[in-house]
Amino acid sequence: MNITVVGVGHVGLVSAAAFARWGHDVVGYDDDAAKVATMQGGAPWFYEPGLQELLSEVTEAGRLRFTSDSDDALRDAEIVFVCVGTPPLPGGGPNLSYVEAVGRTVVAQASRELVLVEKSTVPANTGRRLEQVIARETERLGLEHAIHVASNPEFLKEGAAVEDTLHPDRVVYGTSSDFARDALRAVYAPLVEQDGCPVVETDVASAELIKHASNAFLATRISFINAVAQICDRVGADVQTVAEGMGHDVRIGHRFLQAGLGYGGSCFPKDVDAFAHLASQVGYEFGLLDEVRDINAGQRAAVIRKLEHELWHLNGKTIALLGAAFKPGTDDLRESPALHLADDLIALGAEVRIYDPVALPNVEVQRPDLPRAETIDAALAGAHAAVVCTDWDDIKKIEPQRFLEGLAYPIVIDGRNVYDPEAFIGAGLRYHSMGRTSVA
Ligand code: UDX
Repeated sequence: MNITVVGVGHVGLVSAAAFARWGHDVVGYDDDAAKVATMQGGAPWFYEPGLQELLSEVTEAGRLRFTSDSDDALRDAEIVFVCVGTPPLPGGGPNLSYVEAVGRTVVAQASRELVLVEKSTVPANTGRRLEQVIARETERLGLEHAIHVASNPEFLKEGAAVEDTLHPDRVVYGTSSDFARDALRAVYAPLVEQDGCPVVETDVASAELIKHASNAFLATRISFINAVAQICDRVGADVQTVAEGMGHDVRIGHRFLQAGLGYGGSCFPKDVDAFAHLASQVGYEFGLLDEVRDINAGQRAAVIRKLEHELWHLNGKTIALLGAAFKPGTDDLRESPALHLADDLIALGAEVRIYDPVALPNVEVQRPDLPRAETIDAALAGAHAAVVCTDWDDIKKIEPQRFLEGLAYPIVIDGRNVYDPEAFIGAGLRYHSMGRTSVA
Protein backbone atom coordinates (compact mmCIF):
# COMPACT_ATOMS: atom_id res chain seq x y z
CA MET A 1 0.00 0.00 0.00
CA ASN A 2 1.03 3.64 -0.36
CA ILE A 3 1.42 4.77 3.22
CA THR A 4 2.18 8.25 4.54
CA VAL A 5 3.32 8.72 8.11
CA VAL A 6 2.83 12.24 9.43
CA GLY A 7 5.28 13.09 12.21
CA VAL A 8 8.57 11.23 12.38
CA GLY A 9 9.13 11.11 16.12
CA HIS A 10 9.77 7.90 18.06
CA VAL A 11 6.47 6.29 17.06
CA GLY A 12 6.25 7.68 13.52
CA LEU A 13 9.77 6.93 12.40
CA VAL A 14 9.89 3.39 13.77
CA SER A 15 6.40 2.62 12.40
CA ALA A 16 7.33 4.01 8.96
CA ALA A 17 10.41 1.80 8.85
CA ALA A 18 8.39 -1.26 9.92
CA PHE A 19 5.69 -0.65 7.28
CA ALA A 20 8.45 -0.45 4.66
CA ARG A 21 10.01 -3.66 5.96
CA TRP A 22 6.64 -5.38 5.44
CA GLY A 23 6.75 -4.37 1.77
CA HIS A 24 4.69 -1.17 1.65
CA ASP A 25 5.77 2.06 -0.06
CA VAL A 26 6.15 4.60 2.69
CA VAL A 27 6.67 8.37 2.85
CA GLY A 28 7.67 9.93 6.16
CA TYR A 29 6.46 13.53 6.40
CA ASP A 30 7.35 16.10 9.02
CA ASP A 31 7.05 19.87 8.91
CA ASP A 32 10.38 20.11 10.76
CA ALA A 33 12.66 20.45 7.73
CA ALA A 34 15.81 19.98 9.84
CA LYS A 35 14.62 16.57 11.06
CA VAL A 36 13.68 15.54 7.54
CA ALA A 37 17.09 16.63 6.23
CA THR A 38 18.80 14.54 8.94
CA MET A 39 16.81 11.51 7.90
CA GLN A 40 17.30 12.11 4.21
CA GLY A 41 21.00 11.90 5.10
CA GLY A 42 20.31 8.37 6.37
CA ALA A 43 20.51 8.92 10.13
CA PRO A 44 17.67 8.79 12.68
CA TRP A 45 17.49 12.04 14.65
CA PHE A 46 17.29 10.19 18.01
CA TYR A 47 19.03 7.21 19.55
CA GLU A 48 17.18 3.90 19.32
CA PRO A 49 18.94 0.51 19.14
CA GLY A 50 18.65 -1.19 15.72
CA LEU A 51 16.87 1.74 14.07
CA GLN A 52 19.82 2.88 11.96
CA GLU A 53 20.19 -0.59 10.43
CA LEU A 54 16.46 -0.94 9.72
CA LEU A 55 16.33 2.53 8.12
CA SER A 56 19.34 1.78 5.91
CA GLU A 57 17.76 -1.48 4.78
CA VAL A 58 14.40 0.02 3.78
CA THR A 59 15.68 3.27 2.31
CA GLU A 60 18.25 1.39 0.18
CA ALA A 61 15.43 -0.88 -1.00
CA GLY A 62 13.60 2.32 -2.08
CA ARG A 63 10.58 1.68 0.13
CA LEU A 64 10.92 4.61 2.53
CA ARG A 65 11.64 8.24 1.77
CA PHE A 66 11.21 11.49 3.71
CA THR A 67 9.80 14.86 2.76
CA SER A 68 8.73 18.12 4.38
CA ASP A 69 6.41 18.95 1.46
CA SER A 70 2.86 18.00 2.47
CA ASP A 71 1.58 17.92 -1.09
CA ASP A 72 4.34 15.51 -2.10
CA ALA A 73 3.66 13.41 1.03
CA LEU A 74 -0.10 13.11 0.60
CA ARG A 75 -0.64 13.05 -3.17
CA ASP A 76 -0.58 9.25 -3.60
CA ALA A 77 -1.47 8.19 -0.07
CA GLU A 78 -3.98 5.38 0.44
CA ILE A 79 -3.58 5.42 4.19
CA VAL A 80 -2.20 8.18 6.42
CA PHE A 81 -0.93 7.51 9.94
CA VAL A 82 -1.02 10.48 12.30
CA CYS A 83 2.00 10.30 14.62
CA VAL A 84 2.29 13.93 15.70
CA GLY A 85 2.86 15.00 19.29
CA THR A 86 0.02 15.38 21.78
CA PRO A 87 1.84 17.35 24.51
CA PRO A 88 0.10 17.94 27.85
CA LEU A 89 -1.88 21.13 28.45
CA PRO A 90 -1.82 22.85 31.86
CA GLY A 91 -5.22 21.34 32.81
CA GLY A 92 -3.99 17.75 32.33
CA GLY A 93 -5.57 17.04 28.95
CA PRO A 94 -3.46 16.58 25.80
CA ASN A 95 -3.05 19.27 23.17
CA LEU A 96 -4.82 17.80 20.14
CA SER A 97 -4.45 20.82 17.88
CA TYR A 98 -1.68 19.13 15.85
CA VAL A 99 -3.93 16.12 15.26
CA GLU A 100 -6.72 18.39 14.09
CA ALA A 101 -4.32 20.29 11.81
CA VAL A 102 -3.29 17.03 10.14
CA GLY A 103 -6.99 16.23 9.54
CA ARG A 104 -7.47 19.55 7.74
CA THR A 105 -4.28 19.18 5.67
CA VAL A 106 -5.23 15.67 4.60
CA VAL A 107 -8.68 16.80 3.46
CA ALA A 108 -7.14 19.67 1.49
CA GLN A 109 -4.50 17.54 -0.23
CA ALA A 110 -5.89 14.03 -0.60
CA SER A 111 -6.64 13.07 -4.17
CA ARG A 112 -8.63 9.92 -3.51
CA GLU A 113 -10.66 8.00 -0.91
CA LEU A 114 -8.31 7.16 1.94
CA VAL A 115 -8.02 6.18 5.59
CA LEU A 116 -6.73 8.60 8.23
CA VAL A 117 -5.38 6.61 11.18
CA GLU A 118 -4.67 8.01 14.65
CA LYS A 119 -1.50 6.41 15.94
CA SER A 120 -0.57 9.15 18.43
CA THR A 121 -2.08 8.39 21.82
CA VAL A 122 -5.36 10.31 22.00
CA PRO A 123 -8.35 10.27 24.35
CA ALA A 124 -11.46 8.30 23.44
CA ASN A 125 -13.70 10.51 21.30
CA THR A 126 -10.86 12.08 19.32
CA GLY A 127 -11.92 9.96 16.33
CA ARG A 128 -15.41 11.47 16.49
CA ARG A 129 -13.94 14.96 16.62
CA LEU A 130 -11.73 14.22 13.64
CA GLU A 131 -14.71 12.90 11.69
CA GLN A 132 -16.51 16.16 12.41
CA VAL A 133 -13.55 18.27 11.21
CA ILE A 134 -13.21 16.15 8.07
CA ALA A 135 -16.93 16.28 7.27
CA ARG A 136 -16.98 20.08 7.59
CA GLU A 137 -13.83 20.61 5.54
CA THR A 138 -14.96 18.14 2.88
CA GLU A 139 -18.24 19.96 2.54
CA ARG A 140 -16.62 23.39 2.55
CA LEU A 141 -14.18 22.42 -0.20
CA GLY A 142 -16.87 20.55 -2.16
CA LEU A 143 -14.85 17.32 -2.30
CA GLU A 144 -16.24 13.96 -3.40
CA HIS A 145 -13.84 11.34 -1.99
CA ALA A 146 -14.47 9.96 1.47
CA ILE A 147 -11.90 10.06 4.26
CA HIS A 148 -12.33 7.29 6.83
CA VAL A 149 -11.07 7.78 10.39
CA ALA A 150 -9.49 4.85 12.25
CA SER A 151 -7.48 4.31 15.43
CA ASN A 152 -4.41 2.06 15.51
CA PRO A 153 -2.55 2.64 18.78
CA GLU A 154 1.14 1.87 19.05
CA PHE A 155 2.56 0.04 22.07
CA LEU A 156 6.31 0.31 21.45
CA LYS A 157 8.72 0.96 24.31
CA GLU A 158 11.64 3.28 23.75
CA GLY A 159 14.94 1.40 23.81
CA ALA A 160 13.16 -1.68 22.38
CA ALA A 161 11.08 0.18 19.79
CA VAL A 162 12.29 -1.68 16.70
CA GLU A 163 11.76 -5.12 18.22
CA ASP A 164 8.37 -4.12 19.72
CA THR A 165 7.17 -2.78 16.37
CA LEU A 166 8.41 -5.63 14.19
CA HIS A 167 7.17 -8.28 16.64
CA PRO A 168 4.33 -6.78 18.68
CA ASP A 169 2.30 -8.68 21.31
CA ARG A 170 -0.84 -7.61 19.48
CA VAL A 171 -2.15 -5.28 16.81
CA VAL A 172 -5.22 -3.20 17.69
CA TYR A 173 -7.26 -1.17 15.26
CA GLY A 174 -10.66 0.44 15.49
CA THR A 175 -12.61 1.37 12.39
CA SER A 176 -16.11 2.49 11.48
CA SER A 177 -16.20 1.34 7.83
CA ASP A 178 -15.32 -1.78 5.85
CA PHE A 179 -13.02 0.34 3.68
CA ALA A 180 -10.91 1.38 6.68
CA ARG A 181 -10.91 -2.12 8.20
CA ASP A 182 -9.78 -3.70 4.91
CA ALA A 183 -7.00 -1.11 4.49
CA LEU A 184 -5.64 -1.84 8.00
CA ARG A 185 -5.90 -5.57 7.38
CA ALA A 186 -3.78 -5.08 4.25
CA VAL A 187 -1.18 -3.02 6.15
CA TYR A 188 -0.71 -5.69 8.82
CA ALA A 189 -1.25 -8.81 6.67
CA PRO A 190 2.50 -9.49 6.24
CA LEU A 191 3.04 -9.29 10.01
CA VAL A 192 0.08 -11.49 10.83
CA GLU A 193 1.12 -14.07 8.22
CA GLN A 194 4.77 -14.15 9.36
CA ASP A 195 4.34 -13.90 13.14
CA GLY A 196 0.79 -15.06 13.75
CA CYS A 197 0.42 -11.87 15.78
CA PRO A 198 -3.03 -11.56 17.45
CA VAL A 199 -5.24 -8.82 16.01
CA VAL A 200 -8.01 -6.99 17.89
CA GLU A 201 -10.46 -5.43 15.46
CA THR A 202 -12.87 -3.05 17.14
CA ASP A 203 -14.59 0.32 16.96
CA VAL A 204 -12.62 3.58 17.05
CA ALA A 205 -13.43 4.61 20.66
CA SER A 206 -12.52 1.17 22.05
CA ALA A 207 -9.18 1.20 20.23
CA GLU A 208 -8.44 4.65 21.64
CA LEU A 209 -9.31 3.43 25.14
CA ILE A 210 -7.19 0.29 24.85
CA LYS A 211 -4.10 2.46 24.57
CA HIS A 212 -4.89 4.76 27.50
CA ALA A 213 -6.09 1.91 29.68
CA SER A 214 -2.96 -0.16 28.92
CA ASN A 215 -0.54 2.64 29.79
CA ALA A 216 -2.50 3.65 32.89
CA PHE A 217 -2.59 0.01 34.02
CA LEU A 218 1.17 -0.44 33.56
CA ALA A 219 1.81 2.81 35.45
CA THR A 220 -0.51 1.52 38.19
CA ARG A 221 1.54 -1.68 38.49
CA ILE A 222 4.72 0.36 38.91
CA SER A 223 3.15 2.63 41.52
CA PHE A 224 1.67 -0.37 43.30
CA ILE A 225 5.05 -2.04 43.67
CA ASN A 226 6.60 1.29 44.67
CA ALA A 227 4.01 1.61 47.45
CA VAL A 228 4.89 -1.94 48.51
CA ALA A 229 8.56 -0.86 48.50
CA GLN A 230 7.69 1.89 51.00
CA ILE A 231 6.22 -0.75 53.30
CA CYS A 232 9.24 -3.00 52.75
CA ASP A 233 11.53 -0.16 53.83
CA ARG A 234 9.54 0.18 57.05
CA VAL A 235 9.24 -3.51 57.96
CA GLY A 236 12.65 -4.68 56.73
CA ALA A 237 11.33 -6.81 53.85
CA ASP A 238 12.81 -7.05 50.34
CA VAL A 239 10.60 -5.71 47.56
CA GLN A 240 12.38 -7.64 44.81
CA THR A 241 11.68 -10.92 46.55
CA VAL A 242 8.10 -9.81 47.19
CA ALA A 243 7.70 -8.96 43.48
CA GLU A 244 9.23 -12.28 42.48
CA GLY A 245 6.88 -14.17 44.77
CA MET A 246 3.89 -12.25 43.42
CA GLY A 247 4.96 -12.62 39.79
CA HIS A 248 4.97 -16.43 39.84
CA ASP A 249 1.19 -16.18 40.00
CA VAL A 250 0.41 -16.33 36.28
CA ARG A 251 -2.48 -13.94 36.86
CA ILE A 252 0.05 -11.32 38.01
CA GLY A 253 3.26 -12.04 36.04
CA HIS A 254 6.74 -10.67 36.62
CA ARG A 255 7.00 -7.68 34.30
CA PHE A 256 6.57 -4.03 35.30
CA LEU A 257 7.01 -4.78 38.99
CA GLN A 258 10.43 -3.17 39.30
CA ALA A 259 10.40 -0.77 42.25
CA GLY A 260 12.60 2.32 42.15
CA LEU A 261 12.62 5.99 41.37
CA GLY A 262 9.36 5.72 39.48
CA TYR A 263 8.25 6.01 35.90
CA GLY A 264 9.02 8.81 33.46
CA GLY A 265 9.06 9.17 29.70
CA SER A 266 6.82 10.65 27.08
CA CYS A 267 3.91 8.31 27.73
CA PHE A 268 3.11 7.16 31.27
CA PRO A 269 3.06 10.58 33.01
CA LYS A 270 1.13 12.23 30.17
CA ASP A 271 -1.23 9.33 29.58
CA VAL A 272 -2.12 8.89 33.25
CA ASP A 273 -2.98 12.61 33.39
CA ALA A 274 -4.87 12.52 30.10
CA PHE A 275 -6.87 9.45 31.09
CA ALA A 276 -7.82 10.98 34.46
CA HIS A 277 -8.76 14.20 32.62
CA LEU A 278 -10.93 12.35 30.10
CA ALA A 279 -12.63 10.40 32.89
CA SER A 280 -13.42 13.61 34.73
CA GLN A 281 -14.75 15.22 31.55
CA VAL A 282 -17.20 12.37 31.07
CA GLY A 283 -18.32 12.52 34.70
CA TYR A 284 -16.18 9.87 36.42
CA GLU A 285 -13.53 10.80 39.01
CA PHE A 286 -10.77 8.21 38.48
CA GLY A 287 -9.17 8.79 41.90
CA LEU A 288 -7.00 5.69 41.56
CA LEU A 289 -4.99 7.48 38.87
CA ASP A 290 -4.40 10.48 41.16
CA GLU A 291 -2.92 8.07 43.66
CA VAL A 292 -0.75 6.43 40.97
CA ARG A 293 0.67 9.84 40.13
CA ASP A 294 1.24 10.79 43.79
CA ILE A 295 3.01 7.52 44.59
CA ASN A 296 5.26 8.08 41.58
CA ALA A 297 6.26 11.56 42.76
CA GLY A 298 6.66 10.15 46.29
CA GLN A 299 9.53 7.94 45.13
CA ARG A 300 11.65 11.02 44.50
CA ALA A 301 10.68 12.35 47.91
CA ALA A 302 11.85 9.03 49.38
CA VAL A 303 15.29 9.47 47.80
CA ILE A 304 15.53 12.98 49.24
CA ARG A 305 14.57 11.62 52.69
CA LYS A 306 17.31 9.00 52.43
CA LEU A 307 19.84 11.65 51.43
CA GLU A 308 18.75 13.90 54.31
CA HIS A 309 18.97 10.97 56.70
CA GLU A 310 22.63 10.60 55.72
CA LEU A 311 23.66 14.20 55.07
CA TRP A 312 21.30 16.22 57.29
CA HIS A 313 20.98 19.43 55.26
CA LEU A 314 21.39 19.17 51.51
CA ASN A 315 22.20 22.87 51.18
CA GLY A 316 25.74 23.13 49.77
CA LYS A 317 26.13 19.37 49.30
CA THR A 318 27.13 17.92 45.93
CA ILE A 319 25.12 14.94 44.68
CA ALA A 320 26.27 12.78 41.76
CA LEU A 321 23.28 11.67 39.68
CA LEU A 322 24.06 8.54 37.69
CA GLY A 323 21.77 8.47 34.66
CA ALA A 324 19.74 11.23 33.02
CA ALA A 325 17.56 9.39 30.48
CA PHE A 326 14.12 8.30 31.72
CA LYS A 327 15.22 4.67 31.23
CA PRO A 328 18.19 2.84 29.73
CA GLY A 329 18.43 2.35 25.96
CA THR A 330 17.29 5.84 25.05
CA ASP A 331 18.59 9.41 25.06
CA ASP A 332 15.08 10.70 25.77
CA LEU A 333 14.85 13.07 28.75
CA ARG A 334 11.11 13.68 28.72
CA GLU A 335 9.68 13.52 32.27
CA SER A 336 12.90 11.85 33.36
CA PRO A 337 12.83 11.04 37.11
CA ALA A 338 16.54 11.96 37.17
CA LEU A 339 15.87 15.51 36.00
CA HIS A 340 12.91 15.95 38.35
CA LEU A 341 15.15 14.77 41.18
CA ALA A 342 17.85 17.21 40.06
CA ASP A 343 15.32 20.06 40.28
CA ASP A 344 14.14 18.94 43.73
CA LEU A 345 17.75 18.78 44.97
CA ILE A 346 18.62 22.19 43.53
CA ALA A 347 15.53 23.65 45.21
CA LEU A 348 16.97 22.39 48.51
CA GLY A 349 20.28 24.16 47.85
CA ALA A 350 22.26 21.11 46.70
CA GLU A 351 24.54 21.04 43.71
CA VAL A 352 24.13 18.20 41.24
CA ARG A 353 26.46 16.67 38.74
CA ILE A 354 24.82 14.43 36.18
CA TYR A 355 26.28 11.55 34.15
CA ASP A 356 24.67 9.52 31.38
CA PRO A 357 26.38 7.27 28.81
CA VAL A 358 24.15 8.44 25.93
CA ALA A 359 21.89 11.35 26.87
CA LEU A 360 24.43 14.05 27.87
CA PRO A 361 24.25 15.87 24.51
CA ASN A 362 20.50 16.23 25.06
CA VAL A 363 21.07 17.44 28.63
CA GLU A 364 23.44 20.06 27.22
CA VAL A 365 20.78 21.30 24.79
CA GLN A 366 17.65 20.94 26.92
CA ARG A 367 19.03 21.63 30.42
CA PRO A 368 22.20 23.65 29.93
CA ASP A 369 21.88 24.79 33.57
CA LEU A 370 22.68 21.28 34.87
CA PRO A 371 26.37 20.52 35.42
CA ARG A 372 27.37 17.45 33.41
CA ALA A 373 30.08 14.86 34.06
CA GLU A 374 31.45 13.08 31.00
CA THR A 375 32.43 9.95 32.95
CA ILE A 376 31.19 8.07 35.99
CA ASP A 377 34.42 8.88 37.84
CA ALA A 378 34.10 12.58 37.07
CA ALA A 379 30.57 12.51 38.49
CA LEU A 380 31.66 10.77 41.68
CA ALA A 381 34.86 12.78 42.29
CA GLY A 382 34.47 14.49 45.65
CA ALA A 383 30.64 14.33 45.66
CA HIS A 384 28.94 13.88 49.06
CA ALA A 385 26.67 11.10 47.78
CA ALA A 386 25.68 9.30 44.59
CA VAL A 387 22.16 8.43 43.42
CA VAL A 388 21.50 5.81 40.75
CA CYS A 389 18.70 7.26 38.59
CA THR A 390 18.81 5.12 35.43
CA ASP A 391 19.79 1.45 35.25
CA TRP A 392 22.24 1.65 32.34
CA ASP A 393 24.65 -1.31 32.08
CA ASP A 394 27.80 0.72 32.81
CA ILE A 395 26.18 2.13 35.96
CA LYS A 396 25.05 -1.34 37.06
CA LYS A 397 28.65 -2.57 36.76
CA ILE A 398 30.17 -0.02 39.19
CA GLU A 399 32.00 -1.87 41.97
CA PRO A 400 31.75 -0.67 45.61
CA GLN A 401 35.45 0.21 45.57
CA ARG A 402 34.95 2.73 42.79
CA PHE A 403 32.34 4.56 44.86
CA LEU A 404 34.59 4.44 47.93
CA GLU A 405 37.52 5.88 46.03
CA GLY A 406 35.57 8.56 44.19
CA LEU A 407 33.06 9.95 46.70
CA ALA A 408 33.93 12.34 49.52
CA TYR A 409 31.47 10.47 51.78
CA PRO A 410 30.71 6.80 51.12
CA ILE A 411 26.96 7.24 50.51
CA VAL A 412 25.08 5.51 47.69
CA ILE A 413 21.33 5.74 47.12
CA ASP A 414 20.45 3.02 44.65
CA GLY A 415 17.29 4.43 43.06
CA ARG A 416 16.93 1.48 40.69
CA ASN A 417 17.87 -1.43 43.00
CA VAL A 418 20.75 -2.53 40.80
CA TYR A 419 23.44 -3.44 43.36
CA ASP A 420 23.82 -6.27 45.84
CA PRO A 421 23.05 -4.72 49.26
CA GLU A 422 25.22 -7.21 51.17
CA ALA A 423 28.24 -6.54 48.95
CA PHE A 424 27.85 -2.78 49.14
CA ILE A 425 27.22 -2.63 52.88
CA GLY A 426 29.98 -5.21 53.44
CA ALA A 427 32.42 -3.02 51.51
CA GLY A 428 31.79 -0.18 53.95
CA LEU A 429 29.32 1.95 52.00
CA ARG A 430 26.31 3.70 53.52
CA TYR A 431 24.02 1.98 51.05
CA HIS A 432 20.28 2.61 50.62
CA SER A 433 17.99 1.11 48.02
CA MET A 434 14.26 1.30 47.36
CA GLY A 435 12.43 -1.25 49.49
CA ARG A 436 15.37 -3.54 50.20
CA THR A 437 18.01 -3.91 52.87
CA SER A 438 19.65 -0.60 53.70
CA VAL A 439 22.25 0.34 56.25
CA ALA A 440 19.95 2.23 58.52
C1 UDX B 1 5.62 2.90 27.56
C2 UDX B 1 4.82 1.61 27.33
O1 UDX B 1 5.55 0.51 27.90
C3 UDX B 1 4.58 1.39 25.85
O2 UDX B 1 3.76 0.25 25.64
C4 UDX B 1 3.89 2.63 25.28
O3 UDX B 1 3.71 2.50 23.88
C5 UDX B 1 4.70 3.88 25.58
O4 UDX B 1 4.93 4.00 26.99
P1 UDX B 1 8.16 3.68 27.38
O5 UDX B 1 7.70 4.92 28.07
O6 UDX B 1 9.00 3.80 26.17
O7 UDX B 1 6.90 2.75 26.98
O8 UDX B 1 9.05 2.82 28.42
P2 UDX B 1 8.75 1.71 29.55
O9 UDX B 1 9.72 0.62 29.37
O10 UDX B 1 7.34 1.34 29.61
O11 UDX B 1 9.17 2.48 30.89
C6 UDX B 1 8.47 3.65 31.33
C7 UDX B 1 9.02 4.10 32.66
O12 UDX B 1 8.65 3.20 33.69
C8 UDX B 1 10.55 4.22 32.72
O13 UDX B 1 10.89 5.40 33.41
C9 UDX B 1 10.97 2.99 33.50
O14 UDX B 1 12.19 3.17 34.19
C10 UDX B 1 9.79 2.83 34.45
N1 UDX B 1 9.58 1.45 34.92
C11 UDX B 1 9.26 0.46 34.05
C12 UDX B 1 9.68 1.19 36.29
O15 UDX B 1 9.96 2.08 37.10
N2 UDX B 1 9.44 -0.10 36.73
C13 UDX B 1 9.11 -1.11 35.87
O16 UDX B 1 8.88 -2.24 36.36
C14 UDX B 1 9.02 -0.82 34.50
